[in-house]
Parts: sequence; structure tokens; C-alpha cells
Amino acid sequence: MRIGILTISTRGARGERKDESGPLIHALAVEKLGARIVQEHMIRDSQPDIEEILSTWADGGTMDLILTTGGTGFAPTDVTPEATHAIIQREAPGLVEAVRAASLRVTPHAMLSRAVAGIRGRTLIINLPGSPKAVREGLEVLLPVLPHAIGLLHEQPGEDERHIPST
Ligand code: MTE
Repeated sequence: MRIGILTISTRGARGERKDESGPLIHALAVEKLGARIVQEHMIRDSQPDIEEILSTWADGGTMDLILTTGGTGFAPTDVTPEATHAIIQREAPGLVEAVRAASLRVTPHAMLSRAVAGIRGRTLIINLPGSPKAVREGLEVLLPVLPHAIGLLHEQPGEDERHIPST
């Protein structure tokens, strides 16, 4: 699995805050999925910038999955969900619903994540909240289903019909 990691943090991009969430996603994806990290980048909370990088990464055809961290909350600067929504072609709400449901058992603040997940071409894009704690809790839920999700994205048209037993 080929993964891109995008940390969205204005203070981080200015060098005022050390990014722990991006490296944590990197470590867990490699350890638990044997993934290859093909891009890792940090940008400020700017909707046009986020849209640009997500669409460029997805259209490049080198990533099966893009995980973002940060900018999903209620602050006026939190625009990651809007940027993601603008560039996906198909929504995948079940992924973020599952993360929120599991996280609610840990903290009521999980309700404050507006994270979005969706598909552009053959790339799955999933928003995670910004804190390392939330990243760890979210990935615990997501990691087991990601190999199957990515496998489905690479199916050829008609391939699914072979799964249906003939009568
Ligand atoms: N989800 C989990 N699992 N654990 C957490 O600690 N923090 C929440 C929420 N989701 C949290 C969580 C908080 S406090 C906020 S404000 C939102 O995610 C959005 O975070 P973000 O703006 O850093 O993306």
C-alpha cells in the first residue's frame, strides 16, 4: 500500500510547533500495514492549498491512500473537511462515522471532528484530527479495513461479478 501523509497546521508549517501526528501516522502505517510512505508534507490551514496538494497527489497515480491530520475542528481556520469535500468524487462516510463512534467512547470531544473521507480516482482520502492521541485512536479503527478498501479500489470493471455465485 502506497500512502501519502499530509499534516495541516499553520503553526507547524511556520516551524512554531513540532509535528508529532505525521510521524506517528508514518510509524503506524509502516508497522501495522507494511505500507510504503511515498510523500509526507506539512502545509498551513489554507483551503486552496489543501485542495491543490490533495488533487495533485491523487491524480499522480502514485498513492492508494492519503491520510491527513489536523484542521477538522470548529475553529474558523479549520478547513480540511471543506477542501477534501471539494476534491473527492465519491464519499466514504462509513470510515469517519466509525472513527467518531469509537472515539466517542474515549472522549465526547470526538463530536467536534468534522473529518471527511472519500475517493478521487483510485485514491482514498481520509481526514484524521490533529492530536497524536486522536490519530492513534482513529487509526486503530481504520487500519484493519484499509487493505480490503484499497483492494476494491483497484478492481477492474466486471471483476465483482465473479464473486456472485451463478444460479
Ligand atoms: N478523536 C479522538 N479519538 N481523540 C481525541 O482526543 N479530539 C477531538 C476530536 N476528535 C479527539 C478526537 C477534538 S478536541 C477536536 S477539536 C477535533 O477532533 C478536531 O481536531 P483537529 O481540529 O485537530 O482536527
